[in-house]
Amino acid sequence: MRILVTGANGQLGNCIRDAAQQHPELDFHFADKGIIDIDNATSVEQFFENNKFDYCINTAAYTNVEKAESHKEEAFLTNAEGAKHMAQACANSNTILIHISTDYVFDGKKDTPYKENDKVNPINVYGSSKLKGEQYIRDICNRYFIFRTSWLYSQYGYNFLNSMLRLAVEQHDLSITTEQSGTPTNANDLAGAIIATIISRNENYGIYHFSNKGNATWYDFAKSIFTFSKQLENVKLEKTKHYRTFAERPSYSVLDKTKFTNNFTYPLVDWQDSLKKIIEDHKNPK
Ligand SMILES: NC(=O)c1ccc[n+]([C@@H]2O[C@H](COP(=O)([O-])OP(=O)(O)OC[C@H]3O[C@@H](n4cnc5c(N)ncnc54)[C@H](OP(=O)(O)O)[C@@H]3O)[C@@H](O)[C@H]2O)c1
Repeated sequence: MRILVTGANGQLGNCIRDAAQQHPELDFHFADKGIIDIDNATSVEQFFENNKFDYCINTAAYTNVEKAESHKEEAFLTNAEGAKHMAQACANSNTILIHISTDYVFDGKKDTPYKENDKVNPINVYGSSKLKGEQYIRDICNRYFIFRTSWLYSQYGYNFLNSMLRLAVEQHDLSITTEQSGTPTNANDLAGAIIATIISRNENYGIYHFSNKGNATWYDFAKSIFTFSKQLENVKLEKTKHYRTFAERPSYSVLDKTKFTNNFTYPLVDWQDSLKKIIEDHKNPK
């Protein structure tokens, strides 16, 4: 089975690359922005004319939630038009598209976990651009999986885990917000779920919610990072309810994973267990 991964140098792309090593039976092809720029319809079309795939995992995205507020056109170009280009190329070449979306398509007004068919109503530019991308894919493709996920972190790139570990070394005083509840999700777990989807050959296409289990505030997430890395004494950690950001964020964005667990056998891991494991693996690299 030939599988294309776009956005290959991002954190999820790198986690898929690692997970792929356990699957020599799958023929992965990793493409960074230099190989496929999803903003560019011609570049995408030409690449698919010359290469044939069974699955395409589109991890490429404009992911800077703050910057998106002042760079709306760029965010929509990649997250909406880029997703459209990928959808068209996949539909034309009979490739199954696996696309990643976000909990930020919701407004956060609920206080119970969001299901796939709950009303979407993004409250920031990033969420709006990702929702438009979802809509293009649903209109253009028959065979697609969209995985909405939340609060991704990993050993790769700029993410909350790596920022907190760096700040602990620098011994900062930290005020971390309790204003939002969601689920921190280890991108390695999402990578595993995506590969399990491919191996299962499941044909129940559509939108799925996937995250780790449980819920947390950003303060809970930070506290667990410092606890598991045994650095709680290095930081002065405080809660705040007034953390100023450009982008508004949903106050509650926990995802209901029932549809995923009903359709796939891939196990969901508690967010704290997965966080603890990644921190331990970090300290004792294989
Ligand atoms: N991070 C989160 O908390 C989070 C939460 C929910 C959903 N998601 C979704 O999960 C997916 C993976 O996110 P991630 O955390 O792995 O993001 P990431 O680390 O920012 O990786 C995204 C990758 O896409 C590349 N890219 C950007 N524009 C591109 C373009 N026009 N053509 C080709 N590649 C392009 C980036 O390359 P450059 O760096 O060179 O621009 C980067 O390597 C995304 O769809 C994101 O929206 C993320």
